[in-house]
Amino acid sequence: MTDQQNEQWLLKARPVGMIGPEHFEHVVTPLPEPDLGAGEVLVKVLMLGFDPAMRGWVEDVPSYLPPVALGEPMRASGIGQVVKSENPNMPEGALVQGLVNWQRYCIAGGDSAMPLQVLPEGTPPGMALSVFGATSLTAYFGLLDVGKPKPGDTVLVSGAAGATGSAVAQIARLKGCKVVGIAGGEEKCQWLREACKVDATIDYKSEDVATRIAELCPEGVNVFFDNVGGSTLEAGLAGMAEGGRIVLCGAISGYNDEKPAPGPHNLMLLVVRRLRMEGFVVIDYLDRAPEAIEALMEWVGDGQFAWREDVQSGFENIPATLQRLFRGENQGKQLLKLADPD
Ligand SMILES: NC(=O)c1ccc[n+]([C@@H]2O[C@H](COP(=O)([O-])OP(=O)(O)OC[C@H]3O[C@@H](n4cnc5c(N)ncnc54)[C@H](OP(=O)(O)O)[C@@H]3O)[C@@H](O)[C@H]2O)c1
Repeated sequence: MTDQQNEQWLLKARPVGMIGPEHFEHVVTPLPEPDLGAGEVLVKVLMLGFDPAMRGWVEDVPSYLPPVALGEPMRASGIGQVVKSENPNMPEGALVQGLVNWQRYCIAGGDSAMPLQVLPEGTPPGMALSVFGATSLTAYFGLLDVGKPKPGDTVLVSGAAGATGSAVAQIARLKGCKVVGIAGGEEKCQWLREACKVDATIDYKSEDVATRIAELCPEGVNVFFDNVGGSTLEAGLAGMAEGGRIVLCGAISGYNDEKPAPGPHNLMLLVVRRLRMEGFVVIDYLDRAPEAIEALMEWVGDGQFAWREDVQSGFENIPATLQRLFRGENQGKQLLKLADPD
């Protein structure tokens, strides 16, 4: 690799089952002298974020974003530095955040539906993608707008030690709720109790989730924020209090299934217990991002909010890093650093 070359991971095949490096092709191409259109910028990618949703982006099915085409560089969230600009709002040298690709350099901006944003002065790239990133916005709007917790409510969170889940758990705690987090393994559960200060945890790898929900939430769960789906959703449903709200944020346990698992067997509880179950997608809330960022900055500034960044490195490790999310290997927001800003 020289400064005149680009390096890319292209989508080679649509995965059936677990996504992995075999579905991507590594190529080195000349860095074209970019012919930038109005509003476009050439960006050097500095840091990549990894999101379970990326598994959905490689499926050839309609979704809230078009599928990544075969032969195209994989799409990802990330931070970059502008190296050439036709956009007065993003001058050369500016650090920018938004959708980039698994490549060293990409052209972005212009008429894109998801434009890049200039990072606020002094924000470290890792924090921009983690505690102030899309997963925290997901937690903020999903919990507060969809879940509508009230002080004193019991809030159950699955995937609770992850980027989204740990933010949900702490926002619920800061709003005066009792919080129970479900996560895989004692290390993650301990971090939730000690750093995130949740009231109780359930280690789904060693405990029966439905039994523990009943023990820990004897009055029932008022808000269940579900990141996992499958048997976890079924167990959470069984523990709901009358009039409770279930926020469907994701269903990571099924993202790599070859055949979709059957839905929960106990959906009639929605009727019997007068429950509301509602999904949402964070991009619908992006115009309200400043509201969430302001609250998060205050909580972080006051030392009331914990988060973890799991920073991998090496361009060659990009596809394998995505797999870490589906194996529960990530400790907090999964990132990969490619370069420092100039
Ligand atoms: N609706 C939206 O707009 C939106 C936006 C962002 C994210 N999401 C969803 O939010 C969820 C969390 O995303 P994130 O980016 O914050 O990732 P994350 O929670 O930081 O990482 C994924 C975690 O999922 C857990 N997991 C993986 N496979 C599992 C399985 N089979 N059963 C149970 N848990 C499993 C693992 O934790 P353990 O070690 O605890 O198993 C892993 O660490 C995902 O479902 C994602 O799709 C939705």
